[in-house]
Amino acid sequence: MLNNRLRREELKSKIMSADDAAMLIKDGMIVATSGFTPSGYPKAVPLALAKRAQEGDKVEITIITGASVGDELDGALSRTGVMVRRYPYQTNKYSRNSINDGSIMYQDMHLSHVPQFIDYGFFGKIDIALVEALTITEDGGIIPTTSVGVMPQAINNADKVIVEINTSQPMELEGVHDIYVTEKPPHRKPIPITHPGDRIGTHYIPCNPEKIAAIVITDITDKVRPLAPIDENSRKISGYIIDFLEHEVKMGRLPKNLLPLQSGVGSVANAVLGGLVDSKFENMTCYTEVIQDSMFDLIDAGRVTVASGTSFTPSEDGLKRLLSNMKHYAKHCILRPMEISNHPEVARRLGVIAMNTAIEVDIYGHVNSTNIMGSRMMNGIGGSGDFTRNAYLSIFTTVSTAKNGDISSIVPMVSHVDHTEHDIEVIVTEQGIADLRGTSPRERARKIIKNCAHPDYKDMLMDYLERAEKGKYKHEPHLLTEALSWHVRFLETGTMKIK
Ligand code: COA
Repeated sequence: MLNNRLRREELKSKIMSADDAAMLIKDGMIVATSGFTPSGYPKAVPLALAKRAQEGDKVEITIITGASVGDELDGALSRTGVMVRRYPYQTNKYSRNSINDGSIMYQDMHLSHVPQFIDYGFFGKIDIALVEALTITEDGGIIPTTSVGVMPQAINNADKVIVEINTSQPMELEGVHDIYVTEKPPHRKPIPITHPGDRIGTHYIPCNPEKIAAIVITDITDKVRPLAPIDENSRKISGYIIDFLEHEVKMGRLPKNLLPLQSGVGSVANAVLGGLVDSKFENMTCYTEVIQDSMFDLIDAGRVTVASGTSFTPSEDGLKRLLSNMKHYAKHCILRPMEISNHPEVARRLGVIAMNTAIEVDIYGHVNSTNIMGSRMMNGIGGSGDFTRNAYLSIFTTVSTAKNGDISSIVPMVSHVDHTEHDIEVIVTEQGIADLRGTSPRERARKIIKNCAHPDYKDMLMDYLERAEKGKYKHEPHLLTEALSWHVRFLETGTMKIK
């Protein structure tokens, strides 16, 4: 079995325990890891590192991942104070708490920027690439597992590579990946992808075997996250989007099989795609980051021919389904480096239909996806900005209220801006859909309030808009002393409603 997983004989001498491999990671180092969502991330070495810290060894490091990873990495290294700086997107409650209490320095970045930051040296020298692998080939090439993320750039730029060969990952994954890296400017060439199914690279990441400092054999499984059941609100949001897309086809603005779909993470995003299973659309494609459960449904229903992403991000049931039918899904799925899955050039060329989730949206169409009440980091911008600005159509969804109706997700002014009014074409809540194309700010505001705001907040929003419009400047009027007063009221009284 090991011969198939480790095909370069001389590297067998590099096999060691996770504890010994973790000793290669020293205080102050910058470690770039595999993993994108709780898929394909290293587990045994981070756990050993956390144990080392618990035993009193001072080791404080910078971690760069593809995106949010599982608890063995983000959780264990946050709880033990090992991770003191982190890039980019995360979702672990311990790392989130440490970011919010200031003990982890966090830069929330567009995901497509991370691989090139590594390449450009903007993070500094990468000391260690810590990667989970399916197999090391005869040439020392590394085949990733359920995600690719920043692995190619991590391996290329690191002084040393530590590989966790994970025997719980099925060998059928071999061939799913398509590894292509770009040159640095001024030598960068166009990325030759003109269809989501195009394969343009190798199925492994080239690696100089001399850089491989340790190989750890493990069978710790990906700790995937559950998906909330599809609720009434998600069903409604999905319904509005599907009606809108059907209308666009009727108007001749979209082809019958749509354009490649990109969908964000989480339950609403999963529900939106799930709704397409019963739609009229056929031969659809996906060019996205994460391949979630509903994409397996779409593939099984024969509706999606190819799904390109940088990770499989299934629920627990989805993971079982994926692993037991890997051969089948491998025919329809491609995992790429996140530099390519999220590349603005490719998203713009293919004309993706981007569907992402907001925390709050303001009346003029600015979107906050990251900071609750302007200050508390939730997860991060992820790849939403990579797709949003470059999409053929960019759609944002949110439920119109949060916290049992005490928060309106449509507000006069967002308390933090991730996506601007210039990037967003459509807003959807369970109340309805606002098509913002070609609208001026005040037209946008009326559409968003009328179609998307919750009835409890519609009059308050209209009142704000009309009073703001009485001011001297009519383009995008605000009442600066009131613009964020809804958030202040919530923080002071527990509700945005006026008691
Ligand atoms: N004000 C304050 N809190 C709000 C809120 C608002 N307007 N809207 C939602 N929340 C809170 C919810 O109450 C919930 O809080 P809890 O964790 O204390 O229960 C939390 O935010 C998450 O909300 P939920 O409705 O469960 O949303 P979700 O799981 O669909 O996630 C995002 C929504 C925006 C947080 C998530 O999609 C995200 O991180 N997006 C940014 C990255 C991204 O888009 N990635 C995909 C690109 S490919």
